[in-house]
Amino acid sequence: MSITKKFFGKTDNGEEVNIFALTNNNGFSARIIDYGATIVSIFAPDKNGRVDDVVLGYDDLESYAKGPGYIGALIGRYGNRIKAGRFTLNGKEYILAKNDGNNHLHGGIVGFDKAVWKAETITKDGKEALQMSYTSKDGEEGYPGNLDVKVIYTVTDDNALSIEYIAFSDKDTIINLTNHSYFNLGGHKSGSILNNTLKLEADKFTVVDNEAIPTGELRNVEGTPLDFRKPTAIGDRIDQKDEQLLNVGGYDHNFVLNRTGKGLEKAAAVYDPKSERTMEVYTNKPGVQLYTANFLGKDLKGKDGAVYQNREALCLETQFFPDSINHENFPSPILKAGERYDYTTIYKFL
Ligand code: GLA
Repeated sequence: MSITKKFFGKTDNGEEVNIFALTNNNGFSARIIDYGATIVSIFAPDKNGRVDDVVLGYDDLESYAKGPGYIGALIGRYGNRIKAGRFTLNGKEYILAKNDGNNHLHGGIVGFDKAVWKAETITKDGKEALQMSYTSKDGEEGYPGNLDVKVIYTVTDDNALSIEYIAFSDKDTIINLTNHSYFNLGGHKSGSILNNTLKLEADKFTVVDNEAIPTGELRNVEGTPLDFRKPTAIGDRIDQKDEQLLNVGGYDHNFVLNRTGKGLEKAAAVYDPKSERTMEVYTNKPGVQLYTANFLGKDLKGKDGAVYQNREALCLETQFFPDSINHENFPSPILKAGERYDYTTIYKFL
């Protein structure tokens, strides 16, 4: 494993942003910038050793600062939506920005995806790793507590990228950190992902209304187009006249993972028949958001001359459930003052 650092750009405030390349001994590499702790590229070999960059991204900092869709970014403080941007904690109501129609999305107007993180190389379990740190001030974007966040990226020789999310707050707060990479296993320029097959370790999903807000119901996937218990092509049912799909223009749902313990468990596997690449996702979080880039944009200019369209990538955002602070039957996203938040997600390429 090696980590190298290069200049990537300067923010409008003159802050320097660098790009870090984490490379293993098999030609697998992930590139990450300290702006938004964002994954810019993942170069993954296929069965025949052919290496492709399997995530969408941009070449320049300005596109990351202004572009849509949170491409590759670290999302915080709270991944996905909070209904009407309101929640009550310890009897006090907190009001957050409504930056997605009537609701709060992905941490607000200036979320963790727009912060410049402090990057350093550390040793974790005897291996070199890249650590990004950021302190979010009490009241930032309306959330309580000074929150210290560390995100540790490690690349291993089995062609996996591990992301560990650690946080502490000095007041009770809510938190849901995730990564918003858009994967296209055939390569970021290879077009539609509708023929990719997906397997999700989920018997249930959280039902949404037409603002993508959970109603509170956990519904069995059985008999619905959200049944991915057996590997199924993403495009097979995506355009069915199904209320859940129509509500959000395709797949944009949180799946309730069938967890058996507290450790890392497999959440998902995606297979691209063209490149024959597979990606497995392991996590200890309770849910995963499947988003099929339904409204990423038309002719979005990406890195290396790429032009992206909707449904040319998919996101698997491991998470607490959307709006979980407003649903008592969902796993609690509360982080108590002084307690440790510590979750890991691994994206492994085969
Ligand atoms: C998540 C949401 C989507 C969308 C994208 C970003 O996946 O669930 O609805 O907001 O992020 O565009």
